[in-house]
Amino acid sequence: MPDYSISPTGEKFELPTPEDYDKEFKRLQEIVNSQRSLGREIVLVMGLGFVGAVMAAVVADAKNKSGNPTKFVIGMQRPSSRSYWKIPLLNQGIPPVSSEDPEVPLMIQRCVNENKTLTATFTYDALKLADVVVVDVQCDYLKESLGNVRDGRTEMEALEESLEIIGQNISPQSLIIIETTVAPGTTEQVAYPIIKKMFKKRGIESDPLLAHSFERVMPGRNYVSSIRDFWRVCSGVNQESTQRVVKFLNEVLNTEKYPLTVLDRPIESETAKIVENSFRATILAFMDEWSLFAERNGVDLTKVINAVKVRPTHSNIIFPGPGIGGYCLPKDGGLGLWAYRHIHGFEDDIFKITPLAIDINDTRALHVAQLTRDALRNMGRPIASAEILVLGASYREDVGDTRYSGSELIVRRLTEMGAELRVHDPYVLHWWEFEKQDEYPVSSHGLKRFFRGQEKLKDLRIEQNLEKALHETDAVIFAVRHKHYLSLDPDEVVINAGGPIAVIDCFGILDDDRIKRYFELGCEVKGLGRGHVKRIKDQVRESKEHK
Ligand SMILES: NC(=O)c1ccc[n+]([C@@H]2O[C@H](COP(=O)([O-])OP(=O)(O)OC[C@H]3O[C@@H](n4cnc5c(N)ncnc54)[C@H](O)[C@@H]3O)[C@@H](O)[C@H]2O)c1
Repeated sequence: MPDYSISPTGEKFELPTPEDYDKEFKRLQEIVNSQRSLGREIVLVMGLGFVGAVMAAVVADAKNKSGNPTKFVIGMQRPSSRSYWKIPLLNQGIPPVSSEDPEVPLMIQRCVNENKTLTATFTYDALKLADVVVVDVQCDYLKESLGNVRDGRTEMEALEESLEIIGQNISPQSLIIIETTVAPGTTEQVAYPIIKKMFKKRGIESDPLLAHSFERVMPGRNYVSSIRDFWRVCSGVNQESTQRVVKFLNEVLNTEKYPLTVLDRPIESETAKIVENSFRATILAFMDEWSLFAERNGVDLTKVINAVKVRPTHSNIIFPGPGIGGYCLPKDGGLGLWAYRHIHGFEDDIFKITPLAIDINDTRALHVAQLTRDALRNMGRPIASAEILVLGASYREDVGDTRYSGSELIVRRLTEMGAELRVHDPYVLHWWEFEKQDEYPVSSHGLKRFFRGQEKLKDLRIEQNLEKALHETDAVIFAVRHKHYLSLDPDEVVINAGGPIAVIDCFGILDDDRIKRYFELGCEVKGLGRGHVKRIKDQVRESKEHK
């Protein structure tokens, strides 16, 4: 393992040495003493990822009615070579996550440098100083095959390890809030026994104060608001834990406008999260068959959806892009299935829709490769020697999060078919799923193993300059609805590409005028759920014949 950590922008930070730990704990003790004298509660957020980094800032920014900060927050991140850089960056007031929400950098800078209510650390000893510990470490679901979520398992080593460390260090009066999305049953049947055991070893007889309150954060334009100004669900393992978690959330979130839902038991809060995400995965998966129907019958699915949406009862119908992606939707239903068997011990199989939805979503992007192949074939260009540009690497618009994005599957399948791929994404500097494809996101569990001929993809680099990316490409795949792509001018695209290209619209990005213009320029256009393009093509051809 290297003894340094490199940030996505290339800054190199030495990892802490054993001598640094004592010094760091002393630094924290001093700050905590002075913060306590100001009457502030000490909150430790464990895991400075997409959720923890911004949750830490939201808590550090919380103020009482007189406008004074009520909490001092220590963000704790383990000092691995992959993640350590987040600590020095955050301590300079720079967010360790990128997003379109301008409030993220402003808030972190304000809390770290002006209000001085937020610091980041690598030492687990910091837990000794906390009144409240918020757990935001990952809990994964590892799939063994592509398109079969049943063939997989929950991977909660990081969470279990974190809980052990928490149990070894915290004061028995500290409240632990698990925000991580977990297999329903985890708080009571995994976390509670781990912490209780650690307490016993330390001679502590009291019950741990433990609660679950899942995150609904959406890292995007409303990143901060999606944590602070949004409804929360919570539940504690006992009455005192419930009272404490309710008090804490009331102090840090906008619960006046977005009231809390307090449930009787943590398994209900855990189940709520899984049901919520399985519901969304299902309504997206359901559209996949209608998307194919649309393509084969001259129907524009985007218009159908807009027509249906006007009914208030159907307003959440959504156009599915090339797969669903993101960290949560592809895995959360899997956590539920797994819990039923492995935490609760049932043998029968009650789940039908949830796994089917995930399987459909996990493989939807493969169809994009077929559309690209067909569009190129119509232009007389074989896919095996084509240069293809994918616009967007993230799983959704205007964020820099590539986890399980549909674009990854598109790149992998087209590479397998022999094409040369390039990628543009204004929000993503490194696509680690390729650059570090043998170790990321989890070693031996990347999507690489489901495709052949993937070795060269470790050299895939994201191009930030769109003009350069377009140069002499044979096909352009609009994969993500980043704002940069919504109004691209077909004439400019074709000029930059050096001639007519195949255009694949995966997300209802192109309006009919643009589709028409691409055809007029000699391009071929196809799109997920966009069966009407054939009609536009015929119209353009007819009008050319009449000239
Ligand atoms: N990303 C989202 O949009 C989102 C939305 C809602 C809920 N969630 C849930 O929130 C949880 C966290 O997600 P995330 O996206 O922030 O994950 P992430 O992988 O970005 O962050 C997890 C962080 O925890 C750190 N970590 C792991 N073990 C640790 C330890 N022992 N001590 C200190 N730090 C440790 C990791 O290094 C990493 O920085 C997951 O359960 C996820 O399902 C995520």
